[in-house]
This record gives sequence, structure tokens and C-alpha cells, in this order.
Amino acid sequence: MSTTMKKEIFEEPSAMERCLKSNEATLNKLAETLQAANICNVVVAARGTSDHAGIYGKYIIESMLGIPVGLAACSTTTLYGSKLNFNNMLVIGISQSGAAADVLELVKNAKETGAITLTITNNLESPLAKAADFHLYCDAGLEESVAATKTFGTQMYLIAQFVARWAGKTDLIKKLEAVPKTMAQILLQDATIAQIATRYRFMEEAFILSRGINYPLALEATLKIQETNYVRAKAYPISDFHHGPFAMISEGMPVFMYMSDGPVKEDSKAMIEKLQNAGADLIMISDDDELLAQGDLGFKIPSADKEDMIASFYFAVFAQLFAANLAEVKGRNPDAPRGLKKVTITK
Ligand code: AGP
Repeated sequence: MSTTMKKEIFEEPSAMERCLKSNEATLNKLAETLQAANICNVVVAARGTSDHAGIYGKYIIESMLGIPVGLAACSTTTLYGSKLNFNNMLVIGISQSGAAADVLELVKNAKETGAITLTITNNLESPLAKAADFHLYCDAGLEESVAATKTFGTQMYLIAQFVARWAGKTDLIKKLEAVPKTMAQILLQDATIAQIATRYRFMEEAFILSRGINYPLALEATLKIQETNYVRAKAYPISDFHHGPFAMISEGMPVFMYMSDGPVKEDSKAMIEKLQNAGADLIMISDDDELLAQGDLGFKIPSADKEDMIASFYFAVFAQLFAANLAEVKGRNPDAPRGLKKVTITK
């Protein structure tokens, strides 16, 4: 395998299957506990890629369980010394290293004030793994590349699995079981994705758009090309892109749209038309032929059966492979981006 990043992307489906087995008992116990508790609010604390997995959690918890989910501003606790009251809430801390200091402080604050606490890490010996009432273990094997890939897939998978159980959606649990194998089909198209990447070898700026459950996938696709390719990319939900940012679109500007056939499909049509009229270079990543036909270029993901939360996994692996291949085409080493370390501690 050409780079560690790519090797780790290829390990993602098997890591997901493994983490489901190793967490089965905890997933069921967690769902039982949450069903019995009267949770009024959920708060998620995380940074970087882990934060994007958390935002995915926000969208699926709100849409499946009707419980509002907020994203923590850790600095109010760590820098402003505030003690927050998390009573009757579920507080989730996510960190692949398990070393995120500010997330740890927030989780401790949550536990002391009566929350049910859950952490998700890829390190059983880390402070975060030991800090909460429940711990879900990514079991992804050591991730060496600075760019998080297989830990992102396993974080999202564990989140999807616990939320589906909490909501009592047995049909969804079944559909999720099939995801790793289907995801692996995208890995077989690595050469096609590498070919697509060559078209973008001179790209220095880009916009990445999506909406709803897949908005965090646009955020993650953006972070991947920022850190491995130094592209000045920015993600938006299409709903916000109408409100000002659209003015940045000029002739030939690369715009990546992550849009599957589901509840947000119709909403994307007005934006597609506007982008076409403005001369944007539109690449469509979708399972929907009608949407794919609107792009200057398209990549077809496997059908997600109108479940946006399933399409997310296919989008993730495309975005990761695209970033890894683009780095190779640009002659950059995606495993050691300039100015970055694998673990960044924020207080
Ligand atoms: C991921 O590709 C990044 N290098 C980075 O954003 C990372 O996700 C972030 O530093 C969070 O790390 P953690 O999950 O170990 O807390």
C-alpha cells in the first residue's frame, strides 16, 4: 500500500465489523439504560474528526429520538471556570486517542452533576476510556497516519449502532450490519478515485456542500483535504451557502456535493442550478442517478436505500480515498502533514 493513510482506510470495514462484536454487550446495556432514563438533552464534546462523528450523532439522535443535541463549548469549563449542570442529560466525549484534555474535564463535570456519561475512544488505557459510565471502544488497531480515517468510521458506526438500539429500530440495526461489506466495494474503486483526483491536481481552493445528516461528512471531507493537501477548502450546509457564502463562487471553482437520495435531495436542486449558472465545477458524490447527471463529474456510491445515515459511511470512504489519492498526485505525504501531530491536546 502506497501510504499508511491508504492502508488504514483499507482496514476500515474490518475494523467496523470487529468493533461491533467487541461492543455488543455495552451497546445493549447502554441502550437499556438510556431507554429507562428520562434524557432531556444530549451534549457532545470532541475536536477535529471526532467532532465530526459527534455532529453526525447530533443529527441522528435528533431525527430518530426527538431529543435536542448540543455541541459543547469546552472553554467555558476549562478557561472560564464554569461548572455546568448536566443533570438528566447524556454527555458524550469522543476522542480517538482518548487524550483530549478539555473533553475529559467536561465529561468529569457532567458525571459530577448527574449526567449519564459515554466516551468513545480507540485506546482502552486512555484517561477518557476510564472517565465515563460507558465506554465504546473503536478497536480499530493503532492508527498511525495523522489523518484519522478508520477511527472515524468506527466512531460513526458505534454511534449509529447505539442510537439505533436506543430508538429500538431493529430494521436499521440490520441495515447497519451490512454497511462494512458494502463500504468495501468502494475500496475496489480506488483506481477510479485516483483518476478523479488527477483532475484536481492543481486545486488550491474548494467548497464542500451537503445538508442534514451528511453535513458532518462535508466537514470531514473538507478536513481531510485541508490537512493532507493544504487545499483552502470550506464546508457548508447548502441551507447556509445561500446566505452569503455563495458570492465566493467564481467560474471554475471546484464544488463537491455529497448528496444522497433521501429527505434532502429536493432541497439540493435549487443550489445545483445556481452553481451551474455561476459556472462552478461541480463534482457530485451520490447514489442517485438524477443528481449524478447534474455534475460535471460524478462518483456513484452504493445505494443507501434512502437512509442518509447509511450513505454517510460511503461518503466517508470516498472522501478519505480522494484525499489520500490527491496527496499522491500532488506529491505530498498525507501521513505527515506539515505542522501537525497525531495527538493535539487542547485545554
Ligand atoms: C484528524 O484527521 C485530525 N488529524 C485531528 O483533527 C484529530 O481528529 C483531532 O486532533 C482529535 O483527536 P482525538 O480524536 O485524538 O481527540
